[in-house]
Amino acid sequence: MVVDARPSHDRRSAVSLFARLRTAEGQTDPFPLYTELRSMGPVVPAPWGGLLVSSFDICDQVLRDRTWLEPDKHWRDKQGPRTRWNAPSSQEMSNTLPALNPPDHTLVRRMAGTFGGAALKRVRRTIIRATDQLLTSLADQLHHGEADFVAAVSDELPVAAIGDWLALPTADRSRLVKLTHDQVFTQELLPTASQLALSDAATAELRTYFMDLVRERRRRPAEDVVSLWIRAWDTIEPDRDKADQAVYYLALFVLLAALETTSTLLSTMVLRLLEQPLMWDLLAANPTFVPAFVEETLRFDPPTHVISRVAAGDRTVGGIEIPQDAMVHLMVGAAHRDPARHTNPDRFDPQRAKSDHLAFSNGIHYCLGAPLARLEAQTLLHHLVRRLPRLTLARRPSWAPRVAFRRLMNLDVAHA
Ligand code: HEM
Repeated sequence: MVVDARPSHDRRSAVSLFARLRTAEGQTDPFPLYTELRSMGPVVPAPWGGLLVSSFDICDQVLRDRTWLEPDKHWRDKQGPRTRWNAPSSQEMSNTLPALNPPDHTLVRRMAGTFGGAALKRVRRTIIRATDQLLTSLADQLHHGEADFVAAVSDELPVAAIGDWLALPTADRSRLVKLTHDQVFTQELLPTASQLALSDAATAELRTYFMDLVRERRRRPAEDVVSLWIRAWDTIEPDRDKADQAVYYLALFVLLAALETTSTLLSTMVLRLLEQPLMWDLLAANPTFVPAFVEETLRFDPPTHVISRVAAGDRTVGGIEIPQDAMVHLMVGAAHRDPARHTNPDRFDPQRAKSDHLAFSNGIHYCLGAPLARLEAQTLLHHLVRRLPRLTLARRPSWAPRVAFRRLMNLDVAHA
């Protein structure tokens, strides 16, 4: 039990706050709700158990401290058979990289490799080509009226990039985007039973898809990363079925990690640009501002607003005692607006001295795909400001009713 010495009206306020945060309206602008959360203290007991952390410094410390663990298979099993942690999708996720703790995590992370050097160089060509094609087809659509930027570009570029790296057949890609949107619910903060059922079904389909893909690559190896992972696992795992499973978990998680998050980054970045038309000229005239614009987008409204950890032992966080195995929810979307860390945090300012953020986490689980996500966002921004400088927002976009994984359902744009 988390020891909560605060008045019960705070707990009721936290319940009401999360009820509002989980709606489409709450997601349209969650930041006033985060200000409310912060006013209750930097660390607040969550109504359902565990803690909510909105202080940037405490979030950062927890992520870098190895005595805070991922909720791994062992932890999930202990939560009991009728909890969300025992849903088939959750059990499946417990075998993937971000649910592993050392020493398992250390090995699998080493096998996964990183998006650096050669891998990035090859994918860069695909990203430039895909950006060019997607913007051409967006411009065509705009000749006939409005277009939805999410469907036309943001959902397409990440699947083109990761599809190239994993060598996924082009015909399968739209199905994989759809399955990823459903699968993510098992990773949400408070999934409903029907959302978990969607996630379970999507997970089962993705398992069949990727297990078939891995077996096919074993039969016909190529130079893609799945074939490279098979070769690498074969050197340490004599059982071929186990090696195939390990490669399947890597491919599955890389796909899940790469699609929605990057799509949300691309859309929120363009939304910021549409809200500040003067930025178009600034960026077109000074392309060196592009990386700072992307980083400020990641600070201002990151694709992932919550990252969770569990305590390896009893401890005190922000003056609150919490026992071993209790979960902390690091509210990074709120922490990015912590006035103790950033001056004028509610102002979107790509020229601020430091846009430091936790959008890609920190510590040993720091996002493996951060260089790829940055490359996609920067490439898109470079091309967009030059090719479609007179783009305007047709109407305010709508957001999916979630908490942890932000998702714009549409971003309707038109020519001025
Ligand atoms: C803007 C886009 C992205 C965002 C915001 C994002 C965010 C994150 C976050 C917050 C984590 C850490 C979770 C934790 O600490 O528990 C993470 C981990 C990870 N991400 Fe990303 N990600 C993005 C894009 C990508 C892409 C494109 C890839 C694929 C190449 C990728 C692959 C991974 C992997 C494999 C991990 C697990 C690392 C580990 O546990 O050691 N991500 N990501």
